[in-house]
Amino acid sequence: MSAIAIHIDGRPVSVPPGTTILGAARQLGIAIPTLCHVEGFEPSASCFLCAVQIEGRPNLWPSCATPVAPGMAVITNSAEVRAARKTALELLLSDHAGDCVAPCHTGCPAGLDIPGFIARIAAGDNAASARLVTDGLTLPASLGRVCPRLCEQHCRQCDVTEALSIRNLHRFSADYQRQAKSPPPPADPPAPPTGRRVAIVGAGPAGLAAAHHLLGQGHAVALFDAHSQPGGMLRYGIPAFRLPRQVLDAEIQAIRALGAEFHLGRRLGRDLALDNLRRDFDAVFLAIGAQGSRSLGCPGEELATSALEFLETIADGFPPAIDGDVIVVGGGNTAMDASRCAVRLGARSVRVLYRRTRREMPCLMEEVEAAEAEGVQVEFLVAPARLERKEGKLNLICQRMELGPPDASGRARPVPVPGSEFALPATCVIAAIGQHVKTDGLDHSQLALSKWGIAADPKTLATNLPGVFAGGDAVSGPDLAVRAVAAGKLAAVAIHQYLAGQKVVGTPPLASVMMGKLSEAELAVLLRDIEQAPRAPMPHLPLEARRTTFDEVELGFSLETATRESRRCLGCGCGKAVPCRLRQVATEYGVDPQRFVGERRLFTRDTSHPDIIFEPGKCILCGACLQVAAQAGEELGLSFAGRGFQVSVAPPFHRPVAEALRQSGRRAAEVCPTGAIMLKSAGCAGCRLA
Ligand SMILES: Cc1cc2nc3c(=O)[nH]c(=O)nc-3n(C[C@H](O)[C@H](O)[C@H](O)COP(=O)(O)OP(=O)(O)OC[C@H]3O[C@@H](n4cnc5c(N)ncnc54)[C@H](O)[C@@H]3O)c2cc1C
Ligand code: SF4
Ligand code: SF4
Ligand code: SF4
Ligand code: FES
Repeated sequence: MSAIAIHIDGRPVSVPPGTTILGAARQLGIAIPTLCHVEGFEPSASCFLCAVQIEGRPNLWPSCATPVAPGMAVITNSAEVRAARKTALELLLSDHAGDCVAPCHTGCPAGLDIPGFIARIAAGDNAASARLVTDGLTLPASLGRVCPRLCEQHCRQCDVTEALSIRNLHRFSADYQRQAKSPPPPADPPAPPTGRRVAIVGAGPAGLAAAHHLLGQGHAVALFDAHSQPGGMLRYGIPAFRLPRQVLDAEIQAIRALGAEFHLGRRLGRDLALDNLRRDFDAVFLAIGAQGSRSLGCPGEELATSALEFLETIADGFPPAIDGDVIVVGGGNTAMDASRCAVRLGARSVRVLYRRTRREMPCLMEEVEAAEAEGVQVEFLVAPARLERKEGKLNLICQRMELGPPDASGRARPVPVPGSEFALPATCVIAAIGQHVKTDGLDHSQLALSKWGIAADPKTLATNLPGVFAGGDAVSGPDLAVRAVAAGKLAAVAIHQYLAGQKVVGTPPLASVMMGKLSEAELAVLLRDIEQAPRAPMPHLPLEARRTTFDEVELGFSLETATRESRRCLGCGCGKAVPCRLRQVATEYGVDPQRFVGERRLFTRDTSHPDIIFEPGKCILCGACLQVAAQAGEELGLSFAGRGFQVSVAPPFHRPVAEALRQSGRRAAEVCPTGAIMLKSAGCAGCRLA
């Protein structure tokens, strides 16, 4: 038969009769997105993503299922077509029952693949878990000791018993890696050298994370730091009993081993000028942290010792002699750390004064409890009014407070109670009121500043100066180590884009479906596959040793405890989340998965098959798996069940998927365009249930 001539986007093409518009477009090299279309299978035309316009015909047509006709003029990429595709995707996602990314994973600012690494511990593959943790998170052993576990608040196990002990598990994995005689090689070898050089000012968590990821992309990195040792506040702020120095040193050594150059004792503004760094390097990342201490804010404040200076002298190995009564003013991590150090240095009594109540304290409650257990007395609703020296001794005049209406931070504002002043004698008063960003080294650089520190675009960390990026506490003001690590990771992405001459956009988010709270029935499905147990407690150093040494207080999980704890994980998230075609096109089309959200399908999961997991709530009814099963001669196979909006794909007679896809499970996972059928070995839930 003679070929049929048509036009697609104004370009002529002749194809054999029976060819679909999609086939003809591909012949021309015109890309039409598809989802339910699987090459070599009967079209189901269930997704409508391949919709095109045909001149002279009403409506839009699925190009994968529409044969060409003589003289057809097809338009594949008009605004109308794109809008229809976007709507089709939004409708598909409107009742999608599955999380693209586990809630804990979303809760970690640094984006660690939590279900992935936990699954590997549960499967006994500690080397693979360690590799995932060290590749995905800079300083995982250090963060595994000090992070306030932002992820755990989002853990689905909170709705059942208590959150997984995620932080302690990645500490376990990272320690395993550190102690392994021959650590496994990185999953991805570093990129070949690009010949580009980046200067990083500040070797704290933000600078180290940027170095880690830039080196992985083949860029050379030089870190400059004012201190004689790298690590930032992890070394000079956080005491060794929370983060032993050999742990931090080993993690920094691993970054050095990747090729990072360290130039220590070099201060920006004294030994270095930003203009020179811009001239000598291809890009600059400013990660100078928040080094300034706030003072007490009352008369006599100059008589107090700054907590940062106090902690730094201890970190430097020259702890001050302390034998009397110590008062620490403040309610955050720094106050807790300073008070616990004072106990260890032999203070007769240690008091922490905080102007709000226990509930408003900005540090983790376990830090306060640890301090109290070690003998620190924490007093609430007390603020300093005046500090005096009398006969060689300090006298802190304090004022009782009460809580008033919320302030700008949303926390109740402390208000002085009239006539409530009282005096506390002390040998040492330590101010742990807060920090600020010191920008004196940048005075003549024309770098724009904000209310908190250096001004930088939150999406790219680019500053107003071309090629200069900034992140971590230097931009946010005093914050958390994990957020500094996240900033370093983002800076590396943006700097790489800048160096590659690409548009600097940072890391645009992928379209994601999140199920939110699960019903009891849905949770029951997840619980079916796990060993139910209470959260594993962390063993501690005996109290006597805690009060007199700087030895690490939290002793870490044994292999047995870590394995048991990891088996509590419900394996949330999707094992196909990265390569799933549905998520890719949804991202490409900028879909809003919430646009048509109605009542979503019930989340269910069938893990009976040795190779695959079946989560039918993610099915888009393409029918490919039915055809795969039929081709493989499966006795049972899969079929469409239900009617109208309730149609779903399922094994007949409520049989398990293990019986339905005896031979063809792996092939079905390959052709399935979503995470409805995924390989157990692919990740997340997959590994754990393998
Ligand atoms: C006592 C204390 C306890 C803390 N506890 C916790 C905790 O338990 N959990 C948690 O998550 N976070 C904690 N934090 C906060 C956390 O340490 C910081 O958020 C984090 O270290 C910030 O990382 P960064 O890289 O942005 O800055 P930093 O860690 O401050 O590093 C900045 C680096 O820049 C260098 N630098 C500064 N100025 C210059 C200059 N002009 N030239 C050259 N180099 C310069 C500094 O020497 C430093 O090494 C604590 C902080 C303190 C002070
Ligand atoms: S770094 Fe913090 S938030 Fe991220 S996984 Fe570890 S404990 Fe959770
Ligand atoms: S149960 Fe596991 S995967 Fe699910 S949120 Fe908790 S840690 Fe993450
Ligand atoms: S489960 Fe089967 S019908 Fe559903 S999306 Fe996957 S391959 Fe298509
Ligand atoms: S309708 Fe053509 S790819 Fe789905």
